[in-house]
Amino acid sequence: MHRDRPVTQPSNYAAPGKMPGLRACLMLILGAGVLSATAWAAPAGAKPAGAQTRDAAPGDFVGEETCATCHEEVAKGFASNPHRKLAEAHGKTGVTCEGCHGAGRAHVEGGGDKSKIFNPAAATAEEVDKTCLGCHQGKHANFERSAHGEGNVSCIGCHSVHAGTDKEHLLKLAQPTLCFQCHTDVKPQFSMPFHHKVNEGLVQCTDCHDPHGTFEKKGLKAAAQQDMVCVKCHTETAGPFVYEHAVVRTEGCTACHFPHGGPNPRLLNRANVNTICLQCHTTSPNFTTFGAPTGPAHNQATQYQSCIICHADIHGSNVGQHFFNTNLQ
Ligand code: HEC
Ligand code: HEC
Ligand code: HEC
Ligand code: HEC
Ligand code: HEC
Ligand code: HEC
Ligand code: HEC
Ligand code: HEC
Ligand code: HEC
Ligand code: HEC
Repeated sequence: MHRDRPVTQPSNYAAPGKMPGLRACLMLILGAGVLSATAWAAPAGAKPAGAQTRDAAPGDFVGEETCATCHEEVAKGFASNPHRKLAEAHGKTGVTCEGCHGAGRAHVEGGGDKSKIFNPAAATAEEVDKTCLGCHQGKHANFERSAHGEGNVSCIGCHSVHAGTDKEHLLKLAQPTLCFQCHTDVKPQFSMPFHHKVNEGLVQCTDCHDPHGTFEKKGLKAAAQQDMVCVKCHTETAGPFVYEHAVVRTEGCTACHFPHGGPNPRLLNRANVNTICLQCHTTSPNFTTFGAPTGPAHNQATQYQSCIICHADIHGSNVGQHFFNTNLQ
């Protein structure tokens, strides 16, 4: 049998009378809106037998010590779990087993009846997310709208509460292995001759992406178009410059660079630098866009010099409008 209702109000496992300070404290830490007043007011005996839901009454909760009598291993492992923090702050009566698994009395009285306890591992993505977001929505409010939320990758697609190998954030696996499990298409990009050193541990996927979702496309922490995600580390490209290369601001870094990796030095998205430039700076008089360069230096038929030999300060310059390096100015 499946539970007919997911644990949507996980915090109601605690009897309010027993720990008057907890509710206020939870709200302080996790943000208001987490706890529902109705949960606390639910009358005893008003819920269907075995429901570990918002209707659970204080008496339906048995406490961590009871769970530990049968689930010794799990309880032991839980001792170092970050979810213990609240418990410790409140005399061992904080966020424990029933905060996620729902009220457990029916399960216990049934001698460990599986159908009477919420097991996230056997629940739908939506049920899992609701359970976790019951407390974590303050920080991860965008999750359901994110590619992961929409793709039915639930919280436990990446996190494991009891068996995380990466203890810091309860991750199932450390990055980037975690991400490559599913993103096999992206993996080879980080093995290209030129790449951001993610496999080497110098840069992380989450330096640029927030897997919980953002308001930017591709879950980027800030739009590559506004460059913020890149200039956090590459501050020298950020300017402000007296003479800006407009494209850096309008198109963003990915107009010229691969963000992950590629076959070309400097992560350039074309093997030949000039090909990049000539996409916009065409020398054809019939197809003039911005500042079509003229003069012998720009004769691509007779001379094929890299544009950046002369236009070296390609991201912008404080020296001159043509982005020459100082010597040429
Ligand atoms: C009387 C012993 C006993 C107590 C006390 C007990 N459990 Fe269990 N629990 C079991 C047994 C036995 C199983 C395994 C059932 C099976 O695998 O068939 C189980 C299974 C589970 C499962 C997995 C269910 C599934 O779908 O596989 C969860 C989650 C769980 N218990 C949580 C808890 C929590 C939380 C508490 C405390 C509120 C608790 N248990 C207290 C005996 C107990
Ligand atoms: C923060 C939420 C959370 C808390 C608190 C929590 N669990 Fe779990 N539990 C989970 C999730 C999620 C799973 C599914 C497996 C996984 O992701 O690790 C699970 C799975 C289980 C299982 C089934 C294991 C299996 O292999 O299927 C048992 C038993 C269990 N928990 C017992 C407990 C006990 C006992 C406690 C308290 C000491 C507890 N849990 C506290 C979230 C929680
Ligand atoms: C009853 C409230 C509650 C529920 C439900 C809950 N959490 Fe938590 N979670 C907390 C608290 C409190 C902390 C500790 C916060 C801290 O360390 O500052 C925490 C910590 C965490 C952390 C570690 C944070 C860090 O800084 O590394 C992760 C990851 C996490 N929770 C994931 C989950 C997942 C996944 C679920 C659902 C299976 C879940 N939580 C369910 C309250 C909850
Ligand atoms: C696609 C993988 C993925 C999914 C899905 C995911 N997380 Fe995370 N989560 C991570 C990674 C990776 C980190 C570590 C972030 C970092 O290093 O900056 C993290 C960190 C966290 C943290 C601690 C840091 C913080 O930002 O607060 C919490 C809490 C957390 N996740 C909760 C959740 C909850 C709740 C869900 C489901 C609603 C969820 N996560 C879904 C990958 C994921
Ligand atoms: C240096 C920043 C950066 C790092 C590090 C990074 N990404 Fe990206 N990623 C981007 C940008 C920027 C885009 C958007 C590219 C575009 O829209 O052209 C992107 C796009 C993606 C996409 C969408 C793919 C597509 O073809 O649209 C996925 C999936 C992805 N990244 C996964 C990852 C994973 C997994 C990691 C770690 C192994 C990672 N990224 C590391 C910046 C980064
Ligand atoms: C359990 C599988 C799974 C894991 C693990 C996973 N992802 Fe994803 N990811 C998906 C799915 C499914 C999608 C949505 C479909 C798609 O775009 O491919 C997605 C989409 C994305 C996108 C594209 C967002 C967009 O708007 O197009 C990025 C970026 C991304 N994931 C980054 C990461 C990062 C970073 C990690 C590791 C922290 C990670 N993913 C871990 C399954 C996963
Ligand atoms: C978390 C920091 C970080 C972020 C964010 C980041 N980078 Fe990098 N980037 C690095 C590091 C570290 C290197 C490697 C430098 C080295 O190998 O000496 C690098 C190398 C590069 C290189 C090659 C430089 C060279 O000398 O060959 C380019 C181009 C580049 N990044 C562009 C970008 C772009 C575009 C973005 C945004 C999508 C971005 N970076 C975001 C840290 C970052
Ligand atoms: C108009 C194309 C273009 C755009 C847009 C662009 N770059 Fe570059 N970038 C280049 C070229 C060309 C080079 C190679 C310069 C060289 O080899 O001397 C380069 C080199 C780099 C380097 C290597 C170190 C250096 O300064 O030579 C980094 C890092 C870098 N770019 C980061 C960025 C970041 C971050 C952005 C966005 C803020 C960005 N680039 C936008 C064309 C561009
Ligand atoms: C995606 C389009 C785009 C790409 C690619 C591009 N640029 Fe530009 N560039 C522009 C725009 C737009 C301006 C601003 C033109 C204006 O203000 O008239 C500009 C301005 C310039 C200027 C200053 C023009 C002046 O008036 O003095 C130079 C020099 C220049 N680019 C060189 C390059 C070089 C070299 C490359 C290749 C590394 C390159 N650009 C790649 C769009 C681009
Ligand atoms: C040998 C040095 C040299 C090389 C190589 C070079 N340029 Fe120039 N570029 C110049 C000089 C000098 C000027 C200034 C011309 C002027 O003031 O009339 C200039 C001006 C420009 C301008 C501004 C034109 C205008 O009318 O405002 C653009 C755009 C430009 N170059 C793009 C490029 C591109 C794209 C390439 C590569 C295909 C390139 N340059 C290669 C020296 C060079």
